[in-house]
Amino acid sequence: MIKIGIVGAGIIAKAHADAIQKNEECTVVAVADIVKERAQEIAESFGAMTFTDYHDMCRMCDMDVVIINLPHYLHCEAACFFLENKVNVFVEKPMAMNVEECDKMIETAKSNRVKIAVGHVQQYTDAHRNLKEIIKSEELGKLLRVTEVRNINYFNNRPAWFLNKELSGGGIVMNYGAHTLDKLYYLTDSTLEDVCSIYGNSMNQCSIEEGAQILGRLSCGTSISLSYTGSEGPYHYETMFYFEKGVAKVIGSRILSLYRDGKWCDIEDSGATMPDRAIEALVNFLKGREHDITTAEHGRAVIEGINKIYKNTL
Ligand SMILES: NC(=O)c1ccc[n+]([C@@H]2O[C@H](COP(=O)([O-])OP(=O)(O)OC[C@H]3O[C@@H](n4cnc5c(N)ncnc54)[C@H](O)[C@@H]3O)[C@@H](O)[C@H]2O)c1
Repeated sequence: MIKIGIVGAGIIAKAHADAIQKNEECTVVAVADIVKERAQEIAESFGAMTFTDYHDMCRMCDMDVVIINLPHYLHCEAACFFLENKVNVFVEKPMAMNVEECDKMIETAKSNRVKIAVGHVQQYTDAHRNLKEIIKSEELGKLLRVTEVRNINYFNNRPAWFLNKELSGGGIVMNYGAHTLDKLYYLTDSTLEDVCSIYGNSMNQCSIEEGAQILGRLSCGTSISLSYTGSEGPYHYETMFYFEKGVAKVIGSRILSLYRDGKWCDIEDSGATMPDRAIEALVNFLKGREHDITTAEHGRAVIEGINKIYKNTL
């Protein structure tokens, strides 16, 4: 049985806990959060220990791995602490605030002979898995262009640290841009080569951007245009993939439709969830089996891409 420690018991930690409950090969043995009640809420159903300081948790608990669900500015610090104490790490996305921190985490894992993986999950939906096969097989010809539009009220019930650049590293680009780059890198086996962007916050005084428009090219040659808006309005998240001989549309991350030979058809989805598949991958990774975990190198590449978007602004 893989013994898991959870560090940071906020919104995403609950999704991990639900997935761990469903997996017979792992359990939660300890939960740490500076807000004690949050740790208790997750620990309860596992009979796990709770801590308000993750350093104490590390000292007092025998764990195979920790899942780090902290605000971004704490990812590197917490990950390196556990790695130095010979505990494997699964750190939520985005991996860290910048490439230097990613390098430090990768190096610390190597020098302590422990494992590190990142919680990017776009590869775990049926829609994206099927789409990757379609891209690879070239059954619709080459993938020429990708356009993505994502609109969500970014300020609705979001924990305050997300809105402070010092703590989050950025706004909608750091947060949703990381999902998009994760997805595009996975689908095309390439990375962001050239990019320019316009981003800003016209809504309020906080230090992160709530909107961005991005134009770029992947190293495979596919061009991309991404538009994120964090203002009020109906939730909208759609990605279009234009091929030489057809089109694929993904709504959210799950609903895939293909346009070919003059008509649309929907592709079936098994209903498997991203958190369930992520935990399955983590167990396989730790047990030394074949796995599809998201590597730290992939997490680093996403951060490098995000940095490029912020740097090449018009
Ligand atoms: N993979 C995904 O799709 C996905 C989705 C949501 C969030 N995330 C990532 O997960 C991380 C957490 O996001 P969230 O939405 O759960 O945020 P959150 O604010 O709900 O949770 C963070 C938790 O960390 C706790 N915390 C803060 N400082 C701490 C410390 N020093 N020690 C222990 N606990 C501390 C907070 O009290 C809070 O409960 C972020 O990096 C976010 O980007 C990933």
